[in-house]
Amino acid sequence: MPRHVAIIMDGNGRWAKAKNKARHAGHRAGVKSVRMSVEMAAERGVEYLTLFAFSSENWARPEEEVSALMNLFVEALRREVAELHRNNVRLKFVGALDELNPGLRNKIAKAEAKTAGNSGLRLTVAIAYGGRWDIVQATRALARRVAEGEMAVDDIGDREFAAELALSETPDPDLLIRTGGEQRISNFLLWNLAYAELWFSDVLWPEFDREAFDLALSFYASKQRRFGHTGDQVEAVGC
Ligand code: FPP
Repeated sequence: MPRHVAIIMDGNGRWAKAKNKARHAGHRAGVKSVRMSVEMAAERGVEYLTLFAFSSENWARPEEEVSALMNLFVEALRREVAELHRNNVRLKFVGALDELNPGLRNKIAKAEAKTAGNSGLRLTVAIAYGGRWDIVQATRALARRVAEGEMAVDDIGDREFAAELALSETPDPDLLIRTGGEQRISNFLLWNLAYAELWFSDVLWPEFDREAFDLALSFYASKQRRFGHTGDQVEAVGC
């Protein structure tokens, strides 16, 4: 079982279009798949689930769609947090959260505080997030520390860099799932996905169900993870 599953939830717009509905109806329908994924991850013993809910680039979508999405996030928090809390889920949001409206930021802060002591599934929602934004903000943080004399340039290594990223407290994803048929990373966790197994599903996000999630988990189970070593080395000592 992967310890950490990351998901690019794509295909809401096409699902809605195929049903002659507005795009926001697709996002709304996608909440059901979010709920299923959280339940199933918790059941299967996945420790970390990270969902790409809104990218840095999504701000460029029509204003009506952006505001429908922001309202949907507020509504989902209002409806789901109590249940997540009952199920021992710890909720965290990552991204340029200062770009969000104060109402949503407030709900996010409350949800994080309420679930902070939970020890079950760690659910991270990436919102106003971009992999390049993440790398730039980590670089700035390190540059500041160097400028303030807290560390030397040569002290910067993989570990120090990763510690400044948005997912600093989370191991790298083992499995990335992208729904909706496209095979790209779309500026998601650029640093963290270095060794992730990639699973691309043609299923549109609102139709992503238990069976589709299981296919991704079976694919993961069939992979030998080598992290740059040879297959023989992995078989001999494990990696
Ligand atoms: C991408 O599909 C999806 C999004 C930009 C939004 C994802 C948001 C949700 C599923 C809402 C619920 C989320 C949470 C965490 C409560 P798309 O619009 O790019 O689809 P398309 O490629 O078919 O146009």
